[in-house]
Amino acid sequence: MTIRTVVFDAYGTLFDVEAAAREAGRSHPVLAECWPRLAADWRRKQLEYSWLRSIMRQHEDFEHLTADSLDWALEAQGIEDVALRRRLLDLYQALPVFPEVPALLDTLEARGVEKAILTNASPAMIGRSLTSAGIADRFAAVISVEVVGTYKPAPRVYDLVLERFALAPTDVLFVSSNGWDIAGAGANGFTTFWVNRGAAPVDRLPHRPKHIAADLSSLTDLLP
Ligand code: LAC
Repeated sequence: MTIRTVVFDAYGTLFDVEAAAREAGRSHPVLAECWPRLAADWRRKQLEYSWLRSIMRQHEDFEHLTADSLDWALEAQGIEDVALRRRLLDLYQALPVFPEVPALLDTLEARGVEKAILTNASPAMIGRSLTSAGIADRFAAVISVEVVGTYKPAPRVYDLVLERFALAPTDVLFVSSNGWDIAGAGANGFTTFWVNRGAAPVDRLPHRPKHIAADLSSLTDLLP
């Protein structure tokens, strides 16, 4: 195994998805109390909708799912506030990256390792996020599931990486904070690195993570 290409998941792995609710909670008295719950519901429903729509073959893009899941999460908290909804969706388009990301990208670049993203987001959505974080030009490829119209962890999605880069699957280091995404990438033969920020148990799915770390900073230890 020689890692030549590192492929990152985007939301939750590079981008701190909780930041939108945390930030909006600073200026909203109700959200100030319940933002952690709202953020957790929002993310869980967003992912559930991606899996369910894939099974149902009722694809809508990730931006659509992000709005639907926010609506569910707001209603669960009894919040009806159009301006807050708009603000949360705007903040989602401008999420910060985790603190270790800029230095990691620099190191990978200096070591000549190719970097890519494989995301559920549409090209437009991920493009806005990368531009807002100032890292739009750091990746050799930004691959979106929109090409195949279904979501991770469908095998067809991971195949897109091998269609873009002529590599042996084990030479791809796939990095995600989602245990189920790691299982999907492992099933495709990729070498996997699970970012387990919340010290969660390993998912009971086929293909356990090859590497597990609390954040992204030790990833460079794996490079040749
Ligand atoms: C993504 C989702 C899984 O970026 O967060 O693909």
